[in-house]
Amino acid sequence: MSETPQTPGAADSPHADVERILLSAEQIEQRLNELGAQIAEDYAENPPILVGVLKGAVMVMADLSRRIDLRTEMDWMAVSSYGSGTKSSGVVRILKDLGTDITDRHVLIVEDIIDSGLTLSWLLANLRSRGPRSVEVCTLLRKPEAARVEIDVRYVGFDIPNEFVIGYGLDFAESYRNLPYVGVLRRSVYED
Ligand code: IMP
Ligand code: MG
Repeated sequence: MSETPQTPGAADSPHADVERILLSAEQIEQRLNELGAQIAEDYAENPPILVGVLKGAVMVMADLSRRIDLRTEMDWMAVSSYGSGTKSSGVVRILKDLGTDITDRHVLIVEDIIDSGLTLSWLLANLRSRGPRSVEVCTLLRKPEAARVEIDVRYVGFDIPNEFVIGYGLDFAESYRNLPYVGVLRRSVYED
């Protein structure tokens, strides 16, 4: 079997649309190991239910959850805020709700990226209205705008520049989620 390409450029592959790699698979793995250990320590007395936000957080959840050495549970929500563009619309719809009653539970939201923070603010308000004991957030990536808004994000993998990124779960028009790294999408792909 051939090795998974780690460099952009191979024609006819999603790697060809990557301008540059921002975070390698190794960097992501190492950071998630650190966050998993920290979460296991912080929640040792109060194992959380991990709530992943589909579809972008699939990779983060898969890798992070395996580094959290606690009896956690896992559930998923799907919300839509973007359509197929590259800017947040601010309108959030629930596409799939939790299957779990989170009343009196410790909830840890697992996110791929926080950009404007609109999606997360909405999600936090929604989950808090269900009477959980606590709600915290772990995100792999955070863009500069999100760092300025009033959302307390307890665990942040990386603060990244304000560029549109793909890979490791993150999509552009539903593609590129399977790239093993986080890369910057070539502007030519979404600008005429
Ligand atoms: P926000 O509401 O602006 O914080 O946007 C959050 C959601 O937008 C994320 O969960 C992603 O689905 C999507 N998103 C924001 N920035 C990017 C990006 O650079 N690449 C891919 N998806 C993004
Ligand atoms: Mg998302």
